[in-house]
Amino acid sequence: MNRYEAFGLGLLTRLDPERAHGLSLMALRTGLVALPGEITSPRLRTSLAGIDLPNPVGLAAGFDKNATALDPLTRAGFGFIEVGAATPRPQPGNPRPRLFRLPEDRAVINRFGFNNEGAAAIAARLAARPERGVIGLNLGANKDSANRAQDFAEVLAATGRWIDFATVNVSSPNTEKLRDLQGRAALESLLAGVLEVRDGLPRRVPVFLKIAPDLTDDEIAEIGAVALAAGINGVIATNTTLSRDGLGGAARGEAGGLSGAPLFERSTRVLARLSRATEGRLPLIGVGGISTPDQAYEKILAGASAVQLYTGLVFGGLSLVGELVRGIEDRLLRDGFATVAEAVGTGRERWL
Ligand SMILES: Cc1cc2nc3c(=O)[nH]c(=O)nc-3n(C[C@H](O)[C@H](O)[C@H](O)COP(=O)(O)O)c2cc1C
Repeated sequence: MNRYEAFGLGLLTRLDPERAHGLSLMALRTGLVALPGEITSPRLRTSLAGIDLPNPVGLAAGFDKNATALDPLTRAGFGFIEVGAATPRPQPGNPRPRLFRLPEDRAVINRFGFNNEGAAAIAARLAARPERGVIGLNLGANKDSANRAQDFAEVLAATGRWIDFATVNVSSPNTEKLRDLQGRAALESLLAGVLEVRDGLPRRVPVFLKIAPDLTDDEIAEIGAVALAAGINGVIATNTTLSRDGLGGAARGEAGGLSGAPLFERSTRVLARLSRATEGRLPLIGVGGISTPDQAYEKILAGASAVQLYTGLVFGGLSLVGELVRGIEDRLLRDGFATVAEAVGTGRERWL
């Protein structure tokens, strides 16, 4: 991190967290943040469910919910970015305050509840997207929807022609009963509906499923089996946790999903178990608590074909992206892997 970034982050931490986040997005849009452009090499270049990525480090959903910073984000060094969650109709989300920093824990608690401008507004921005860069959309459901499963399909229908992948997010803890859609019967019918819409799109967009970190081993195995049988293209593990184990931050009692450092082990264990359950037959994306190159690399060794992060950026700034990407490259070289794909899952046993 350079002096300017450290200064900027220092200022932002004194503001209300949601306002600070809005300002960082604005700084990105107005070109105040220096961006490295694409970071790649033959060793870093990889394929995720048929999508060619310049490197395996992605931006996790929730950072740019309304797709307002597509152009700068595709130049920020990420191998791919995920925007959203988008719901069919706009919705305000939960009352403020709904975002809390826990600096002692290098963690964040959020209970946004899918605040977003709705599928039509987000589709319009995606339609005007930059050509370069891999852009996916996180699909969500309206809080007051009579048929949440249909909501996911509806958002995909509205946006599918402009995106490179879509994520079915049934793991946000901030929309009541949403996580119930992770159960076998609900999930089977939900995925079938989404894939039917996908198969009618002009391009066969890969569809991923994003799961919670608070699942039992049996639930993980069941989700793996349903995902394989349904024919989806990958699983993102994981979303935020409801656990509050070992936290020191004053905001630890706030309701919502916890992300950042304390989530690393829990989410990596879920990833490794899912990798074992699916025998490496399903591409996995590892998310949760990444803030160092060792952690990003460890997710790959645990079974991830690519990784994503969000909370690490709150404390480490956008320059962390380049550090992670270069750090992964160094470790691949050190361990004798010519590509990311060669390393995937080779350290899984440590997490089982
Ligand atoms: C403020 C905030 C908003 C988020 N919004 C979404 C969302 O809309 N959809 C989603 O699937 N995940 C959302 N997430 C979860 C992240 O994408 C990610 O899965 C989680 O934070 C764990 O990664 P991290 O520890 O690197 O942040 C959000 C996370 C945060 C901190």
